[in-house]
Amino acid sequence: MNENHLLSNSLRTSTMVAHKNAETSTFMKQLFKGECSKESYQFYLWALHEVYQTLEQSIEYLKTHEVINKLYFPQLFRLQTLKNDLDEWHFPTDCNVPLSVRDAVKLYCDRIDQLSKEQPELLIAHIYVRYLGDLSGGQMLKKVLPKNFNKQNGFNFYDFPNLDAEQTKIEFRKRLDEIGKMSEKLSQEICQEALQTFSLNTQLFKSLDEVQ
Ligand code: HEM
Repeated sequence: MNENHLLSNSLRTSTMVAHKNAETSTFMKQLFKGECSKESYQFYLWALHEVYQTLEQSIEYLKTHEVINKLYFPQLFRLQTLKNDLDEWHFPTDCNVPLSVRDAVKLYCDRIDQLSKEQPELLIAHIYVRYLGDLSGGQMLKKVLPKNFNKQNGFNFYDFPNLDAEQTKIEFRKRLDEIGKMSEKLSQEICQEALQTFSLNTQLFKSLDEVQ
């Protein structure tokens, strides 16, 4: 098979513009430049907690599904790290998360729930966007956030102890390619869904930069 037709390559090229939009979103730029408020970062952690809870519950439920099973990497799960970070950041349980952030999170989680019921195989796109992102750009954020917030703890989300990020990315892409070989139609649908997933993320970032 021609390299260009591997699902890992198709995903990268078809989401290049969407990735650029996410990377250059106001919220991501604020995070990198140390211009994100403590409150916005707490809301961001809350939002990620909701999204990963929904996603990881679905993955667990579907782990024997013939497609989801190929990308079942529980060693990448982030839910517990987000719980720890919310504790470290003293996120108040009655915290008044703005409606716009709640709405963006609801949209994202509803899409995951819908796919789990109706087209579980398309969750591959959601798994790709979040976990490969965490293993890539996330590792760059890991370096700047403690300095930006003048805080040493509370960044467990970016840590993958006992795991070689580069090696895991190679294995992850290999599994994507196996899925791609199952069906051309499925590959195309996964690429479409990955664009949707990036869009759900950028909408969430937009709701967060409005909080500042
Ligand atoms: C400022 C923020 C970001 C930076 C600096 C950044 C940077 C990068 C870099 C350098 C790579 C390539 C890594 C490699 O090929 O080994 C990458 C890949 C990736 N990033 Fe980001 N990223 C950012 C934000 C995001 C966000 C917000 C998402 C998703 C919501 C995301 C999702 C991904 C994905 C899925 C890949 C894998 C692309 C592929 O090779 O198929 N990134 N990122």
